[in-house]
Amino acid sequence: MSDCKTRIIAPSILAADWSRLREEVKKAEKAGADWLHLDVMDGHFVENVSFGPQFVATIRPHARITLDVHLMMTRPDKYLDRFIAAGADRITVHIEADHDVGKTLARTRAAGLGCGLALNPATPFEAVMPHLNEIDLLLVMTVVPGFGGQAFMENETMPKVAEARDYRESHGLSYHIEVDGGIDQRTVGIAGAHGANVMVAGTALFGAPDMAEAVRKMRV
Ligand code: DX5
Ligand code: ZN
Repeated sequence: MSDCKTRIIAPSILAADWSRLREEVKKAEKAGADWLHLDVMDGHFVENVSFGPQFVATIRPHARITLDVHLMMTRPDKYLDRFIAAGADRITVHIEADHDVGKTLARTRAAGLGCGLALNPATPFEAVMPHLNEIDLLLVMTVVPGFGGQAFMENETMPKVAEARDYRESHGLSYHIEVDGGIDQRTVGIAGAHGANVMVAGTALFGAPDMAEAVRKMRV
């Protein structure tokens, strides 16, 4: 398990060509991606529907890299076991969703998966404080979740990333800080400077003419 200071590049499959899924997964691996980010949307927690556990299970046999599953769902607890069975390596749920957060995180950990908690741009850092010693990843959304290709919300979210980093250091914790939404060659540096180390990008990576070069440039 990499430490929370190592930069991790995680292309979001949301922006891939789903008619060529296996090739797109291979392309991301060949390009040097560390994780593959899978954006699950239920059409209720967010105003969009993407895919479910069967999509994750379809990808699993073709992916050697970590499957980083982001559940943008009102009831992640109801479907957790199906995403675990589908082969997720780590599962991130939202603090704003309608579930017993501590219980869902404990079930994720008990299954041996990486355990993440996400918060939307409008949600204050204080909301996740009670759970920071229960997770190994905090996902600070840098757009309002639901669609790829949106603009990076710098002013609303970077102070929160810095707050998460400072809290981690002052409390001897070690969770990754992941950002997701509007991450490109410009904003990746801003997010990194504030303390994020896991960079989710859909458009800027799967949409790049040369994905390997785009991944490389996100590492500097
Ligand atoms: C939430 C999704 C998107 C996606 C990344 O809406 O989680 O943020 O992963 O989209 P891009 O990188 O295209 O902004
Ligand atoms: Zn995501």
